[in-house]
Amino acid sequence: MTEYDVTVLGLGQMGSALAAALLRAGHRTAVWNRTPAKTAALTAEGAHAAATASEAQAGSPVVIACVLDYPALHEILDPAALAGRTLVNLTSGSPEQARETAQWAAGHGIDYLDGGIMITPPGIGNPESMLLYSGSRTAFAAAEQLLAAFGEAIHLGEDPGVASLYDTALLGMMWSTMTGWLHAAALVTADGATAAEFTPLALRWLGDVNGFIRAYVPQVDQRAYPGFDATIDVQLATIEHLVHASQVRGVDAALPELLRDYAARAVAQGHGGDGWARVIELLRKAA
Ligand SMILES: NC(=O)c1ccc[n+]([C@@H]2O[C@H](COP(=O)([O-])OP(=O)(O)OC[C@H]3O[C@@H](n4cnc5c(N)ncnc54)[C@H](OP(=O)(O)O)[C@@H]3O)[C@@H](O)[C@H]2O)c1
Repeated sequence: MTEYDVTVLGLGQMGSALAAALLRAGHRTAVWNRTPAKTAALTAEGAHAAATASEAQAGSPVVIACVLDYPALHEILDPAALAGRTLVNLTSGSPEQARETAQWAAGHGIDYLDGGIMITPPGIGNPESMLLYSGSRTAFAAAEQLLAAFGEAIHLGEDPGVASLYDTALLGMMWSTMTGWLHAAALVTADGATAAEFTPLALRWLGDVNGFIRAYVPQVDQRAYPGFDATIDVQLATIEHLVHASQVRGVDAALPELLRDYAARAVAQGHGGDGWARVIELLRKAA
């Protein structure tokens, strides 16, 4: 029996934010969580708290799941209740887990869409927040109006693994960038500056880095890396300064040493005259 527009399974920090956004957008929303107490704030806003996960899944044409991980997801999914419905899985996982779950869903007559949420819970509901989806186009069409309550819904294609792949890749980029800033902050604060003094320059610098990345895009796709701006030879010498400055200040040098290793390997392979984008060949060959 379908009584609601949408069901949310999992009311942790993210699932609660998703359900609250759906309610704010005026959708009739059913919710379920393993620990029932977490439904209280949402029922006060008009949500229906289903007694069981199966009842929740049978209650709406579109079921959105957001739990800790895939083992938890598979514990709560009820294929009999979900058959003929659209399942939108916003639980984080690997592309392989997404593809396996899409296959599992197809085997049970469930239309499956996978998703990656590129924002923390307070950003849910901001139209500028980015949420990535991939998988069945009919599932995306069925859920699109509901998903608009969360932020911008970007469908990346039919392969259900792509949203997770992009999500994971973007998070990797976030950790690298944030750790680069933290390393830089450790360096300058060691000599008495504050992060508040340094960071405006760091953020301005990120704008320039943005430009470098744009210039390297065709190089990466064409696998040709002319050193038109700064060669790896020159950058290797400069990275040595970063390693030295770190060591002298007692700042951990593992990060610049890793960068030095990439640069040195590219030089050893005869590519010192290329630009930094050449490093992708070392990354690609690591597997
Ligand atoms: N928080 C973020 O900023 C963020 C951003 C992007 C994506 N995500 C993803 O969203 C998902 C949820 O994250 P969250 O921040 O909401 O985590 P959370 O606050 O720790 O909530 C975890 C949720 O999973 C449920 N759960 C865990 N194990 C379960 C099991 N065995 N059976 C049934 N339910 C189970 C929990 O139920 P109980 O309440 O009963 O423990 C709770 O509803 C994760 O995959 C996370 O990677 C989070």
